[in-house]
Amino acid sequence: MLVSAKEMLTKAKAGKYAVGQFNINNLEWTKAILLTAQELNSPVILGVSEGAGKYMCGYSTIVGMVKGMIENLGITVPVALHLDHGSYEGALACIKAGFSSVMFDGSHYPIEENIAKTKELVALTNQLGLSLEAEVGAIGGEEDGVIGGGEVADPNECKMIADLGVTMLAAGIGNIHGKYPANWTGLSFDTLAEIGEKTGTMPLVLHGGTGIPEDMIRKAISLGVSKINVNTECQLAFAAATRTYIEAGKDLEGKGFDPRKLLAPGFDAIRATVKEKMELFGSVGKA
Ligand code: 13P
Repeated sequence: MLVSAKEMLTKAKAGKYAVGQFNINNLEWTKAILLTAQELNSPVILGVSEGAGKYMCGYSTIVGMVKGMIENLGITVPVALHLDHGSYEGALACIKAGFSSVMFDGSHYPIEENIAKTKELVALTNQLGLSLEAEVGAIGGEEDGVIGGGEVADPNECKMIADLGVTMLAAGIGNIHGKYPANWTGLSFDTLAEIGEKTGTMPLVLHGGTGIPEDMIRKAISLGVSKINVNTECQLAFAAATRTYIEAGKDLEGKGFDPRKLLAPGFDAIRATVKEKMELFGSVGKA
């Protein structure tokens, strides 16, 4: 059964660990993440970007696939199906399709507009028992080869959005999506501490989980981060394992071209990455 992320994140915040959001791209991704969560008895959040949503044929295809897998694989740990960086329209579409959680990323709007739109979605998601993530301070990243530094959110604006009653809050603290550049200055823990003080029990979300050193992850969790998003790292692990398989000529041996064999090393690599992250985040055994 799909659940809202509210309970798992409230427990994570109180227990000082974080639940991983792992983005999905296809059946192999979803199966790898769900089986690993079940094996480790960990709650999990499956993230779907609007682009990945289109790639997978639309939101209702994804809801059907995830619900089917939960049933057919006998998954009993809490699973939230969450829209990642949604537009207002995207959030509405996912709610209609049966997602159990949505993110509305209004960080690029002036704060008044971010507040107004987030407020409307708080009312709707509360009414339906779904969880809602909001964002303050845009998360940078690589776009068309240009790497932008992550913004640092204004703690007062974070409080304004948190007070609207969202379930979890993503705040930019110098984190970015994708690989971190060599000259990255690290996370702004002073900002995170201030946001934590102002927002109290609100579970905080750390985007751009790929490539953040382990000590920074642990420190972020100790300062109130309860959800950490990981996407690129699974993609890199999948690609590297697939490359090794092909470069070793395995697809040319016997039936090595069968997608069930060809995609198996990448699938195993996703499982290993997700396991490593769940252990680091402290969510193992917390289902
Ligand atoms: P990475 O791709 O850097 O792991 O970031 C994932 C993310 O934050 C999705 O919202």
